[in-house]
Amino acid sequence: MCGIVGCVLKHKKAAPILLDCISKLEYRGYDSIGIATEDSKINIKKDKGKIIEVNTSLDLADMEGQSGIAHVRWATHGDPNKINSHPHTDENKTVAVVHNGIIENYLEIKEQLISEGHNFKSDTDTEVIPHLLEKFIKEGLDLEGAMKKTISIIQGAYAIAAICKNEPNKVIATRKDSPLIVGVGKDEYFVASDSPAILKYAKDIIYPERGEIVILEMNGVTIKDINGNIIEKEIETIDWTPEMAEKEGYDYFMLKEINEQDIAIRNTLTEKNNIKKIIDEVKCAINRIMFVACGTSYHASLTGKYLIESLAGIPTDVVLASEFKYSANTLNDKTLVIFISQSGETADTLKALDIANKTSKTLAIVNVAGSSATRRADYVIHTQAGPEIGVAATKTYVSQLTAIYLFAGLLSENDDLLTKLKKVPDYIKEMIKDPSNIITMSKKYKYADDFFYIGRGFSYPIALEGALKLKEITYVHGEGYAAGELKHGPLALIDEGIPVVVVLPPGENHKKTMSNLEEVKSRGADVISIGSMDDKPLIDKSDDIFLINSEIDDIIAPITYIVPLQLLSYYMAIERGCDPDKPKNLAKCVTVE
Ligand code: G6P
Repeated sequence: MCGIVGCVLKHKKAAPILLDCISKLEYRGYDSIGIATEDSKINIKKDKGKIIEVNTSLDLADMEGQSGIAHVRWATHGDPNKINSHPHTDENKTVAVVHNGIIENYLEIKEQLISEGHNFKSDTDTEVIPHLLEKFIKEGLDLEGAMKKTISIIQGAYAIAAICKNEPNKVIATRKDSPLIVGVGKDEYFVASDSPAILKYAKDIIYPERGEIVILEMNGVTIKDINGNIIEKEIETIDWTPEMAEKEGYDYFMLKEINEQDIAIRNTLTEKNNIKKIIDEVKCAINRIMFVACGTSYHASLTGKYLIESLAGIPTDVVLASEFKYSANTLNDKTLVIFISQSGETADTLKALDIANKTSKTLAIVNVAGSSATRRADYVIHTQAGPEIGVAATKTYVSQLTAIYLFAGLLSENDDLLTKLKKVPDYIKEMIKDPSNIITMSKKYKYADDFFYIGRGFSYPIALEGALKLKEITYVHGEGYAAGELKHGPLALIDEGIPVVVVLPPGENHKKTMSNLEEVKSRGADVISIGSMDDKPLIDKSDDIFLINSEIDDIIAPITYIVPLQLLSYYMAIERGCDPDKPKNLAKCVTVE
């Protein structure tokens, strides 16, 4: 949902570094890119398109000035075009602004400003910000004062960074409900929507709270509260390395991240003691659990429900964060509400977290340290996947599942589950070793218009997640169903040559799902199965099959059987000429409701 960067550098030109930083945030938006620098005037270059396309025609790194701001856009208000691209300015180019979020009352502000003689160029909500800043600067305020006054007027979610031609080498930034971090390097200071942007330049990070004003200058960073008082903020050092945000020889981040899943799980397993401590504190005080999440994190939550209900016997609901408000009044102090979010910044999830905090104990399972969810929940489990850049979640998903398996295993004191979990990294390593079978399948099915995915019990969330991966990155219609639901509607759509992916690990549901496989096969479907190496009946009935270590049973399947489905989507995207890292219309971190 848009990425922003700002910097003040004592010894270097800002534009090349801004370009490098913002390129690490392209996962947040890639409709357009823009940079503004200040050298006693405002220089701006911006256009529609991905960085690689825009940079070729504009030479973005070739601008004077040691301070500046940059933006990648995921359009909300106004088409993706040059005029709507950020940075935005006032008519006199006194200030330039980048913004991530939505200004909800922009129409009233815009009308008022137009009646006062301001001319607007774009269709964006953001453009009211530079006009307000300029208006207050004309009335005698400096950029900092103008920003304070502006945020008392605008409503909505925002992270904003601004520069002013009258105030050399200064960036003023602020946030409310959109992420913003401050990076403190050696003689260089940054703000950014997320840490991969600045990993190369600054490891010391400050997390500003809502309404705080960040001032970057040549000699350092100052953070003030809304009353103008300087605040001493804690500085945290991040242990992610710059290489983690690079492709390191892989064609795409998604493939790199699929291949890092064994390590991501191993690292997340180190959260065991932290999870044990949380369980010791909450176990006796709760009689119900509710998971709240969006997208892939919702599918991880669904697995959590199946595990906790079957192993610990605690009633567990799973609610989409955007639909949470209808369940909110059933919460009480005996409910533990678990929020799952790789980014920790998803607007719907954060909104639900704020509501749940009023009545219940809250736990956030989050990949990004210091993100808003980690600061608002009572308890936090950090998944240790490292930065994930590909828009489609892969290694963060299996890390979320690892945390959930640990949680459920410890809660139910089920040592058998914990022992099985420890073996998962090795199983995954084995599965990703040779993708040739999957590549062949992706060539065979690349022209299909519709895919169906079916699974029962623990395999149902796998079917949903497999279908989501397909939709997201190949633009092929994929639908996941509980295998038992097929006959209640979807079977009407099964026809000659329709690919049906059957997720069929060994376990108690095997026979029933086999019957569902027969149902689709007898209607002409092409059956693609994911199953055990020893499963002769399944091998015989499948048109194509990905075979998996026979030790993996249905309970541990969600964290392993998903891997071939991720790979199938990835290679189909490549076959179809799609960019798996930057699927159209999607962004990795959705900071608007
Ligand atoms: C977006 C991403 C998905 C992600 C979902 C929830 O839609 O494209 O990959 O699953 O948001 O994000 P979260 O950060 O809360 O897990």
